[in-house]
Amino acid sequence: MKPAHRIAELRELLARHNEAYFTNDSPLVPDADYDALVRELKELESANPEHVAVDSPSQLVGAPVSNVFKPVTHAEPMLSLDNVFDSEELVAWAERACKGLSVQATDLRFAVEPKIDGLALSIRYEDGALVQAATRGDGREGEDVTDNVRTIANIPKVLPAGAPSLVEVRGEVFLAKSDFAELNSRQRELGQKEFANPRNAAAGSLRQKDPAVSAERPLSFLCYQLVDLSNSLKLDSYVAQIDLLASWGFLTAGEKSSETGVTAMVERSNWFEAHRHDLTYEIDGVVIKIDSLAQREQLGFTSRAPRWAIARKLPPEERTTKLLAIEVSIGRTGRATPYAVLEPVLVAGSTVSMATLHNEDQVAVKDVRVGDTVIVRKAGDVIPEVVGAIEVEGKKRSAPWKFPKKCPECSGALERSGDESDTYCVNPACPAQQLQKIIHFASRGAMDIEGLGDQRVSQLLTEGLISDVADLFSLKAESIAALEGMGELSATSLVGNIQAAKDQPLSKVLVGLGIRHVGPVAARELAKAFGDYRALVKAPLELLEALPGVGPVIAESVFDFTRDPESVIRMEKMLAAGVKLVEPNASEGIEQTLTGKAVVVTGSVEGYTREGAEAAIVVRGGTSPGSVSKKTFCVVVGEAPGASKVTKAEELGIPMVPAGDFEQLLATGTLPSNL
Ligand code: IVH
Repeated sequence: MKPAHRIAELRELLARHNEAYFTNDSPLVPDADYDALVRELKELESANPEHVAVDSPSQLVGAPVSNVFKPVTHAEPMLSLDNVFDSEELVAWAERACKGLSVQATDLRFAVEPKIDGLALSIRYEDGALVQAATRGDGREGEDVTDNVRTIANIPKVLPAGAPSLVEVRGEVFLAKSDFAELNSRQRELGQKEFANPRNAAAGSLRQKDPAVSAERPLSFLCYQLVDLSNSLKLDSYVAQIDLLASWGFLTAGEKSSETGVTAMVERSNWFEAHRHDLTYEIDGVVIKIDSLAQREQLGFTSRAPRWAIARKLPPEERTTKLLAIEVSIGRTGRATPYAVLEPVLVAGSTVSMATLHNEDQVAVKDVRVGDTVIVRKAGDVIPEVVGAIEVEGKKRSAPWKFPKKCPECSGALERSGDESDTYCVNPACPAQQLQKIIHFASRGAMDIEGLGDQRVSQLLTEGLISDVADLFSLKAESIAALEGMGELSATSLVGNIQAAKDQPLSKVLVGLGIRHVGPVAARELAKAFGDYRALVKAPLELLEALPGVGPVIAESVFDFTRDPESVIRMEKMLAAGVKLVEPNASEGIEQTLTGKAVVVTGSVEGYTREGAEAAIVVRGGTSPGSVSKKTFCVVVGEAPGASKVTKAEELGIPMVPAGDFEQLLATGTLPSNL
């Protein structure tokens, strides 16, 4: 293709991407792909200067403003930053700056800070009061989002006395990673499209017509520029400006630092690459700025960006690839999770060939179809996921994917009930479920049996040596030594590890059994309260519900589990094999505040059923008889109490505790001071 053609094509493509990204908050391709197109255009334009046009996307910042918001002309243009993509390019930029300033590379001072992936905002303060806030728009003219910005909690609405009469504070509106995850899980629950990344979520949230919607979104603002329009501040460095902004109550990046010399600056920028996942917000790069305001003036600007600052982009965490197939995997609870089989692609340093699609609704909402080009994202240790498909005009797509009706592992029925978003294989004998259950049982967070990984469990199952977790404990070294890849030594060691796991505390066993809703916290509470599995199985439902950290949902699940005939047999088998099923130091659990004390309950106590209130007393060492006697420690009097109990207590002079003080009685074992 002739350069002129490709240039025209790239310009058109970029104009479309710009509109999608900046105006609709819904990018068509990952940032890395966009950057590559800009790069290609710039390279072609510099090789063919006759084709450069002032309105080329390579010369523009952002996109024109939409007509939803009033336009605002920026008092000073909001420029973009030029990018470099590795440390060599960064050094080259710094050396150019040193040359331009006639200073040594060892002497130049830089500020190094995170490049937050959000949305640029300029906030104007007149006589200390916030009067206007605008997005960047095309850099010259932005959108008036003042009403929405007023709902952002961490933005000061007034500046302290002594602040200049006219200033603009510029920075980034963003969503912290945890807030973004929460927002997306809310979107998922509501069956609405998830946001592609925190930047789009922030932009979409800020550019709402109704400020009440913005107010519901957990937006934050972090500042990185002070524009002193009244020209009254006598500061000579950027660091001093940022310190001043912090003293006015603005959030500044905790990880920013100032470095002297190019080497130190590059090292610090490498630190961001290594630690990007430790930050509470998502970053797509590092921004390096020359600290001295005088030096900045000397270097000046290009039409699009300052020469005194640069963005070092970090390796992309989003890539595009081809969706080869959609398959379903079965977990230990029978949950059927759809996942994408992908043409292998390198994302953030590792090859991804599979990515989760969560559930049926998500496949529909993302509308990904076999054969599509899809965006794959991987952030930190997070499991890679498919963000969505890239639309290619005129390309015929395959039919929308349908969730299979049968389990791919056992051919049993797959069922999705009522309002649940998940689909389950309901055959308890499904081999995939059995496999996953045993893998989970042996895993680090549960029984922690070394040498019993996925492959080994699978092998033991297919060879018919085990069929469930209880069988593990009767495995003999002789019978497994002959397995492929085993040998006598590993067999003895594996059996030794399994035998050692018999001593694992009850809480670990409970986690390993994979009882629905029972995670490590609930398991520990249950184990501490009962000390022994034999006591746990006898517990009535009310007693389970009354435990701290164990609500009705967990209680019911545990109750059902302990009475399920199959688990009864499995647990008997484990006990017979010598699995201890006890929790050492269980007495450290619930404080025995009511040891030896008889507490009678009458009437209803808010937050408790009758049995629940009695159980709460019993687990703290007390008793809860049905009638009042001389030995009664106190009577808890709830709503509509029994007349006979109250009269009896009055006769015998037994203290009567109002229901409102019940919690305190449980916690301390003593009567309220006014009784
Ligand atoms: S300085 C004139 N500092 O990145 C220089 N920008 O790609 C103004 N950004 O438009 C920008 N973190 O939206 C600066 N620490 C930071 C930043 C930052 C994120 C954004 C900002 C800017 C864009 C340029």
